[in-house]
Parts: sequence; C-alpha cells; structure tokens
Amino acid sequence: MTQTESKTARPVVLSGIQPSGNLHLGNYFGAVQQYLEFIEKGYQCYYFLANYHALTSLRDRDRLLELTRSAAIDYLALGLNPDKCAIYRQSDLPEVCELQWVLTTVTPMGLLERAHAYKDKVAQGIPSDHGLFAYPVLQAADILIVRANFVPVGQDQKQHIEITRDIAQYFNTSYGEVLTLPEPYIPESVAVVPGRDGRKMSKSYNNTIELFADDKELKRQIWSIVTDSATVAESKDPDKSNLYAILKLFCTAEEQAAWADRFRNGGLGYGEVKQAIFDKYMQLLGPARARRKQLEKRTDYVEEVLHRGAAQARTVGFPLMRQVRDAVGIP
Ligand code: ADP
Ligand code: TRP
Repeated sequence: MTQTESKTARPVVLSGIQPSGNLHLGNYFGAVQQYLEFIEKGYQCYYFLANYHALTSLRDRDRLLELTRSAAIDYLALGLNPDKCAIYRQSDLPEVCELQWVLTTVTPMGLLERAHAYKDKVAQGIPSDHGLFAYPVLQAADILIVRANFVPVGQDQKQHIEITRDIAQYFNTSYGEVLTLPEPYIPESVAVVPGRDGRKMSKSYNNTIELFADDKELKRQIWSIVTDSATVAESKDPDKSNLYAILKLFCTAEEQAAWADRFRNGGLGYGEVKQAIFDKYMQLLGPARARRKQLEKRTDYVEEVLHRGAAQARTVGFPLMRQVRDAVGIP
C-alpha cells in the first residue's frame, strides 16, 4: 500500500460547534472529549466552527466574529492539535454551501418538517425563516463534503445525522453512489449533560457551566446548580439529584459509587458536593484554562491554524464537489 492509499483508508471523523455562545460542559463532555479520542486513535479528523449555522440565531456582526475567534482558541486550548486534525471555519470551505444547494433539491419538505430542533424552536415562538428550516441540509453538507464516517455529537444531534443519511441516500438513489453515509457517535454516559436547572445544558437555556469563565463567575455558576431543600442529615437519592448527575461526569466508576453511598447515607451537605465539582473541574480543565490565556495573545497563530485547516479540508471538499457536479450535470 502506498502512503497516500494508507492515509485515505483512515476512517474520517467530522464534527462542529456553532459559535453562538461560550463553550460549556455539555460541549466538552458531549462533543470535545470524543473529538480528542478520535485524534488519539489516529483517525482523519475535521473539527470546524459552524459560523453559517450561527447566523440562524445570531444577528450581531461583531459578536459573531468575536465568538468565532474565541471558539477557535477554545478548541486549541482544549487540546485539539492542529498538526493532527483540521480546524477551520465553515465559511472558509465554500464547497459546503455549494453542496448544500444541490442537496436541497433532493430533500423532501417532510424530512425537514419532522426535525425536532426546528419544531422545538417554532414551539418556543422563535420566528422561523428559511435558514432555520434548511439548517439540517447545511449540516448534511458539512458532513458529506469530507466523506465523514463518524460524527461525534450529543444526543440532541442524533436526528440531524439521520437526516444527513437520508439526504445522502436520496442523492445516491438519483445519481449513483457518490456520497458516503455517516454514523453518529454518541457515548451513552455523556449523551445529555444536564444544565444547572436540570434541563439539557445549552447556550440557549442560560443554564450552562462554562469552560472558560473566570473563577468568580465559574463559582457562581456551580453554586447555582439547583438542589432540593433536604437537610445535611437526610438521606438523598443520587439518581434524583442533578448535582450528582453533574459530579458524575468527572468521576471514575469507583468514585461515582463512593459518592452515591455518601448521598444515600445522609450527613452530606450540598455545599460539599459543589466544592467537589469545582475541584474536579479545575483538575480537568485547569491546564486548558492556562493554555487559553497564552493563546489569546497569539492572534496570528490562530488565524494561521484556521487557514491551514481550511486548505486541508478543501483538498477533499473540492474534488468531492467536482464529482457531485459531474454526477448531476453541472459543468
Ligand atoms: P448548544 O445547545 O449549547 O447551542 P451546540 O449546539 O453548539 O450547543 O452543540 C455543540 C455540540 O455539543 C453538539 O455535538 C451537541 O450535541 C453537543 N452538546 C451541546 N450541549 C450538550 C449537552 N447538554 N449534552 C451533550 N452534548 C451536548
Ligand atoms: N448542529 C450542530 C449543533 O448545533 C452543529 C453542527 C453544524 C454540526 N454542522 C455540523 C455538528 C456537522 C456535527 C456535524 O450542535
């Protein structure tokens, strides 16, 4: 096998995060942790910033630019090594929007009408526009443009990956086996990270514990995790405790069992659990927080990483788009 063949034979992984707010523990455990795992395994990884997607919820030019820059620094600080994966802005890979248009022409309306994320937003009273409705088609283009095999995401994105598969199948049925069907990768233990209020942690629910908030704000967020009014002495059911659900994320199986016993035995105050979450958080994310402070000063380096990542993605995206154009009859 030549070196090029062995390289192309590596499984391909792609995922992205919308730069529409600050990254939080849901993003870390539900997504970034798996991104790191796939890099470790030596897979061909593409991790991008979905800034075109962010336009569906953010209409503030300066803030979008700033959040995109900030999310790129977050990726680097969290350990995504740009020598081992491609990190890029969605908007720097123009083939994505080009592919999206072609995909819209094979996407039945009903498929998009059934999308939970879209329906939830409409139910919340968020005015729906074409961008919000077509959101999953753009996501399909992100994934299909690099021929991704695996897409590490949280549970909330499962349906979007299924929609991607459906769209790819519709395309292939009409035009031949051009597109590769991806699979979601969603480890059960981190599929839904709960927020401070017990709902799914999300930028849009104002219930996050952020990855890079300053220490004071971080403490405020951890100490505002909602609890019941049980006294210290009372026995508490760990499986009903949101605090335990969050603490668990940082613990080994043995540590989880020990904490669960302490919840049940009584004599455990919620303040002690919050302090334990803070300590565990710092143990896990302290080094990334320190790295981030250094990276903030290296604007040129971050820009260079993004350019390099986009160039790498284009080496796959450009020929894929040529193949798609050829298949549909666009010169
Ligand atoms: P948000 O809901 O805060 O806007 P994003 O939509 O940007 O988060 O999500 C980026 C990635 O992080 C996706 O793969 C998503 O599934 C994952 N993710 C976000 N929140 C959670 C959560 N609470 N639990 C598990 N995964 C999550
Ligand atoms: N929709 C994803 C989210 O909100 C972000 C995203 C856009 C994405 N394109 C993607 C995730 C492609 C995985 C693959 O979290």
